[in-house]
Amino acid sequence: MLSCIQPTGDVHLGNYLGALRNWVAGQHEADVFHGIVDLHALTTTVTPDVIGANTLELSAMLFAIGLDPEVATVFVQSHVPEHAQLGWVMECTVSFGELSRMTQFKEKSSRSETDFVSAGLFTYPALQAADIVLYDANEVPVGDDQRQHVEITRDIAIRFNHRFGDTLVVPEAVTPAAGARVMDLADPTSKMSKSSASTNGCVFLLDPPEVVTRKFKRAVTDSDATVAYDRAEKPGVSNLIDILSAASGMSAESIVSSYRQYGPLKSDTAEAVIAVLAPIQARYEELMADRGELARQLRIGADRARTVASATLERVYSAVGLLPG
Ligand code: TYM
Repeated sequence: MLSCIQPTGDVHLGNYLGALRNWVAGQHEADVFHGIVDLHALTTTVTPDVIGANTLELSAMLFAIGLDPEVATVFVQSHVPEHAQLGWVMECTVSFGELSRMTQFKEKSSRSETDFVSAGLFTYPALQAADIVLYDANEVPVGDDQRQHVEITRDIAIRFNHRFGDTLVVPEAVTPAAGARVMDLADPTSKMSKSSASTNGCVFLLDPPEVVTRKFKRAVTDSDATVAYDRAEKPGVSNLIDILSAASGMSAESIVSSYRQYGPLKSDTAEAVIAVLAPIQARYEELMADRGELARQLRIGADRARTVASATLERVYSAVGLLPG
């Protein structure tokens, strides 16, 4: 199993419910690899020194949510040079047309605050494909928004195998039943994202309880005043139901039958989220107090990751038939 996250700002509830929670759940069932993909963050970050600091904080967060460094391999992408090396081979196995159809590229390039849209933003899915196939991943636990990138990885792996013989494992995306697409509380037709216009609709894992309560209290619903699940007609209310379901384990049906008014639905959802976040926040503070230890854990992760990644790269070079060095 492999999945990755970009060190581009604070981790939010969408990341956690859509993906990270599944990483923790999966660590005792599979051989798991989780990358902090700093090279991907380079596609949009141009300020010096930001990515490194974010990377360390994100590693503390990944351990704080429950990834056990003894069990899960948590590593930094740039510490494993095979990602960039295989990324090039993947770029040569994907077409310009396929990359042009990627929703994330269209969104991010149109949202870019400057006129500068990096070529890396365009070829990003090829590097992501390398991240995945380097570890022979069968399963990739992600939120809904990453499904398209896992699909293109499948296409690339199938094409590579067709050209050069069976070499790469063709992966599959795994999304959770509740929380695969957490929406912005202030604008429930857009996904919760760190790049939203305002942070009012985005709940960060490090938000203090009163901030979480305020954000849920102000969550946009509708004027219909009936608690029902309908993503198209009632996106705000459905989002609250999904979040409460993911945070409490209650089914969406039982939530719908237990609530008549939006007020209690909002306050109970906030409480359920605060209960999930409290132990994570306490652990995060402890871990951030020893940055040397975090860096050491990441080095161990990188060593373990390189063992697997270098074997795959060698297999790929040999399948292609590059002259051995
Ligand atoms: P990133 O860093 O944007 O997000 C990390 C994970 O969080 C999920 N996610 C969400 N899930 C539900 N609701 C939301 N509102 C929400 N927002 C984010 C994402 O689906 C993701 O699983 N391209 C990837 C990083 C990546 C990667 C990989 C992922 C690079 N290489 C290889 C998997 C495998 C990204 O930008 O995720």
